[in-house]
Amino acid sequence: MLEIKKVYHYYGKAKSLEEVNLSVEEEALDVVIGPNGAGKSTLLRVISGLEEPDRGKIIFKGVRIDEEKPHIIARMGIAHCPERRRLFYDMTVLENLELGAYSLKDKNFKELLEFVFEIFPRLKERRKQRAGTLSGGEQQMLAIARSLMSNPKLLLMDEPSLGLAPKIKTSIFEAIGKIKKEGTTALLVEQDAVLAMQVGEIIHVLEEGKIEMRGTKEQLEKEPRIKKVYLGI
Ligand SMILES: Nc1ncnc2c1ncn2[C@@H]1O[C@H](COP(=O)(O)OP(=O)(O)OP(=O)(O)O)[C@@H](O)[C@H]1O
Ligand SMILES: [Mg+2]
Repeated sequence: MLEIKKVYHYYGKAKSLEEVNLSVEEEALDVVIGPNGAGKSTLLRVISGLEEPDRGKIIFKGVRIDEEKPHIIARMGIAHCPERRRLFYDMTVLENLELGAYSLKDKNFKELLEFVFEIFPRLKERRKQRAGTLSGGEQQMLAIARSLMSNPKLLLMDEPSLGLAPKIKTSIFEAIGKIKKEGTTALLVEQDAVLAMQVGEIIHVLEEGKIEMRGTKEQLEKEPRIKKVYLGI
């Protein structure tokens, strides 16, 4: 579904991505882990068109997208759920979800709303509440739900568990598991490697802009360096 081929990206003279190769298969849930400043957010931003790669190609469903504008890429079916939540805080939960669905045909709206409420029952209870008054975890649920309302083919999620308590983290990750089961392809960026490895099918390790390793949970768990640096065992 998505192929990233030898992508380089610089902020000015500072290299942020170096020869990144990464592909995501249809209906897969892939995770990118890596420390602060590794280039994880940048990687998602070059996919969704918010940054242009300096070299390399990005191909989505057979079409090159690395020179396309973000709104075109969004329309092609890539939804980007960014690092900080960026909700419309004065609007209700339901209004935020409606805005997520702005490009949909009416007939899909109800179905999708049911789908996201099934994944996040908490949002259904709170559909009339203003987004700004939701808890951090609920806001994160709403950010993911809003991305899902565009009925994406590929969902990009940047650190969905950032700053949340362990229990809420777990429920967010359970929801991500359900989203995957329903057939949405997703690429997730996450600093919490333990959690990420529980949901991800393929885990890509990004360090200083380079993919240093990748594999399944079982494969990576055997790597001494992964154990030490990411799993603390
Ligand atoms: N707009 C920008 N201008 C200049 N440098 C930037 C910009 N955005 C990011 N960088 C730099 O690029 C590198 C990669 O940043 P990026 O945000 O992609 O890292 P990250 O892996 O998402 O980190 P974190 O886990 O802290 O979110 C960092 O060194 C960062 O300082
Ligand atoms: Mg980041």
